[in-house]
Amino acid sequence: MDKIVVGGGKKLKGEVFVSGAKNAVLPIMAAALLGEEASRIENVPSLRDVTTMVRLLRVLGAKVNQADHVIEIKPGNTLRPVAPYSLVSTMRASVCVLGPLLGRLGCAEVSLPGGCVIGARPIDLHLKGLEALGADITIEHGYVKARAAKSLRGAEVYLGGSFGSSVLATANVMMAAALAKGTTYIENAASEPELVDLADFLVKMGAKIKGQGSHLIEIQGVRKLCGATHSVISDRIEAGTFMVAGAMTRGSDVTVRNCNPEHNRALIDKLRQAGVVVNATANSVRVRRNGLLRPVEITTLPYPGFPTDVQAQIMALATLTPGISVITEKIYPDRFIHVSELNRMGSKIFLEGSSAIVHGVKRLSGAPVMASDLRASAALVLAGLAAEGTTEVHRVYHLDRGYERIEEKLSALGASIKRERE
Ligand code: EPU
Repeated sequence: MDKIVVGGGKKLKGEVFVSGAKNAVLPIMAAALLGEEASRIENVPSLRDVTTMVRLLRVLGAKVNQADHVIEIKPGNTLRPVAPYSLVSTMRASVCVLGPLLGRLGCAEVSLPGGCVIGARPIDLHLKGLEALGADITIEHGYVKARAAKSLRGAEVYLGGSFGSSVLATANVMMAAALAKGTTYIENAASEPELVDLADFLVKMGAKIKGQGSHLIEIQGVRKLCGATHSVISDRIEAGTFMVAGAMTRGSDVTVRNCNPEHNRALIDKLRQAGVVVNATANSVRVRRNGLLRPVEITTLPYPGFPTDVQAQIMALATLTPGISVITEKIYPDRFIHVSELNRMGSKIFLEGSSAIVHGVKRLSGAPVMASDLRASAALVLAGLAAEGTTEVHRVYHLDRGYERIEEKLSALGASIKRERE
């Protein structure tokens, strides 16, 4: 297994290019199952989760060719409807084959994803939405078994929960509804940019979708979908991680290229409030850190609110910000596994329910750390960039799930960072 070794204290300077979005490409790859012909997906990030999705699609009977940042998926006419535990348990996003299989084949068996280090993560809304379209759903032997006696039919589906909306439940219902009879309205739909990208791909395949990006999506079912070519949007969470990286050490000046600043408005707003100089163009963001920063109050919320997937990274920044910052997690109230590891590096973070009270300290000290979550691991790398001495981030496979060559990209900015075999 590999570890990432970070030497702290270097100023970051230069440009970094953002890869395609993990959370867009995964449902888009699943959506390709709906087509009667092959689809070509471009700007695909080279990530462990993408490899897992390739394996899953092959298990389901699709032919998948993977080249340099391009994937071709040919679903064929002999799809198998079973997504096994062995794959779903390694990547929760596997659940987004449920909607396409049901839409295309009228049946699906997908292993229940189970527990997750960032919280409970049930899939009740996915099931509620698919039931509203006419699927008969049972849970047997750890699997969701969904079957539509006749074809799925359009319906009004309210996808509400106490936390707001669900991204992948919206994706699953949108994909299943694309081939249902009649019109579906998803109310309280999630509006994340990755869902807009998914809808854009489905529309290229021949789906009739309106309202993506809002909380009311209308899908007029069609009889069949064809294949399509699509280039995935850039990853706003990777972009956000590099923006925070550019703010970690005084004197840094980082330009994050190939990103859409519109997708990171909440983060940019908070960085500016903290005293970071941020200049955005249509597809880049320049981040400069001069003096001391000011503390911030942040609450994670569904898009366009502050993303939960950047909560751990901004907390790494808050640890070195004089004063008291308060970071409240509303999407996953238990997503704080980075806190104890950051505290091992000398930060002073106290948890109060779903809020972290961060007392800024003068310095962090490098330490061996590990976290079993992708974004928590990214936060530890960021903390390592600013800490005194050497930080070793273990269990790097979590980082590899969602960051393409993070050590190479940060190294090109002047960070002292390398990957080593344990
Ligand atoms: N929820 C329910 N019932 C459901 C579905 C969700 O109660 O049926 C709850 C969850 O427990 C959570 C909230 O709803 O409290 C939001 O979860 P959501 O369904 O929106 O999350 P998701 O679709 O499973 C995607 C991303 C996550 C990201 C969340 C929130 C993908 C593959 N994953 O997950 O990304 O944190 O949306 O924005 O798109 C990551 O990339 O590190 C990551 C975890």
